[in-house]
Amino acid sequence: MTRQLHLNAFLMGTGHHEASWRLPQSDPTATTSVAHFQHLAQVAERGTFDSLFLADGPVMMGNVAQRPSGVIEPLTLLTALALVTERVGLIATASTSYNSPYNLARRFSGLDHVSNGRAGWNIVTTAGIEAARNFGVDEQPLHADRYARAAEFLDVTLKLWDSWEDDVFVGDKAAGVWGDNTKIHLADHRGKYFSVAGALNSPRSPQAYPLLVQAGSSDDGKDFAARYAEAVFTAQQTLGDAQAFYGDLKSRTHREGRDPNGIKILPGIVPILGSTESEAREREAELGEHIVHEHGQLMLSRLLRVPIDQLDLDSQLPDDLPPESEIEDFKSRYSLIVELGRREHLTVRQLIGRLGGGRGHFTFAGTPEQVADIIELWFTNGAADGFNIMPPLLPSGLELFVEHVVPILRDRGLFRREYTGVTLRDHYGLARPSNQYVRELSDSVAI
Ligand SMILES: Cc1cc2nc3c(=O)[nH]c(=O)nc-3n(C[C@H](O)[C@H](O)[C@H](O)COP(=O)(O)O)c2cc1C
Repeated sequence: MTRQLHLNAFLMGTGHHEASWRLPQSDPTATTSVAHFQHLAQVAERGTFDSLFLADGPVMMGNVAQRPSGVIEPLTLLTALALVTERVGLIATASTSYNSPYNLARRFSGLDHVSNGRAGWNIVTTAGIEAARNFGVDEQPLHADRYARAAEFLDVTLKLWDSWEDDVFVGDKAAGVWGDNTKIHLADHRGKYFSVAGALNSPRSPQAYPLLVQAGSSDDGKDFAARYAEAVFTAQQTLGDAQAFYGDLKSRTHREGRDPNGIKILPGIVPILGSTESEAREREAELGEHIVHEHGQLMLSRLLRVPIDQLDLDSQLPDDLPPESEIEDFKSRYSLIVELGRREHLTVRQLIGRLGGGRGHFTFAGTPEQVADIIELWFTNGAADGFNIMPPLLPSGLELFVEHVVPILRDRGLFRREYTGVTLRDHYGLARPSNQYVRELSDSVAI
């Protein structure tokens, strides 16, 4: 079998385009409609997608006066999606900065049990003072500290998920023995950020633990991914940038002593589809016309941490923006936006238009053939193992992709026609993780 693409549906309320909620066909309350997301999950499954994904942050995003706000917490929503689907993977974002390892390990173990092995965790460190203030932290948390805490968070959750060996259950009714205590392992963790006695109060789940996904692209982010991640979401604007990122992350993974094939890299693409090129461009223009640039100005000022009065809509970005090293929020996204503005000499108004489609993800308007061509080009030229599909408008953007682009990818032999596995790791071609305590035992036996 030739190497196969991996597709993840990145779902977001009415769609990824900033103005999607304003189009006549959009339901502006979709962000909290369980039925809407259940329909999308079923469409993704019809398209044999590997997974679907929900972004999140423990903070009020945006301004209710300007765009849809308020979401359902992802693990809760994914439980509802698990019950109306059978195969598609379910990836929830959760923060390592504003959760505790024990609680989060339980919740992901729960989703993996409920979904029969389809849970994934998009591990984020959550940027911004706004979220910090919801948790009694009044200072801007430093980028390096957030990643250090994330690493310890992972070490603890991995211990907790292994605290039950697979065969704890005995079920000897006659002898009155329910389980085997020798197969329970305490986390017994005392570190800089966490103290956890363990064990987890949930048996090892079908996948052992959720697929570990990561979405930071700074140096710290890449090192973290190389150590822990099995899939990586990333925003890349050009084929060249995506190739450089892909090569860099695969070599870092190799340097960590891991198989580079054990980490799947998925750049985002916002496909604006039309049956002809001009129809696709008309759709793009229609979406663009609904952008309110003054709202975009506010968003850009938050992302770049530049006062709004320094962002004149009809001028280019200010010359004296700080280097990435001084940014403590989204380092890689900051650089991507600044480089895009500078490379193409965009005014702030034009930059807002370009970011409106997918906040810095690669946006492309064209026919299904043209979108399939780009996917194939990046996939076969060392830039991607698959794609994060980010429909500009939902549900129609996902429906169109599944009806018109997926068949082309299948006909080219690049994408599955049917699911061949059951769990999310099966879809990504990854093995079920072994248990660290059993591993340690067999290592000592070998000695
Ligand atoms: C596809 C994608 C999805 C993301 N989803 C979230 C999210 O749901 N919540 C969040 O706090 N950050 C999210 N991020 C941001 C990353 O976690 C990270 O903070 C950002 O890419 C900057 O990383 P860096 O500081 O390592 O450069 C996402 C990034 C990408 C590329």
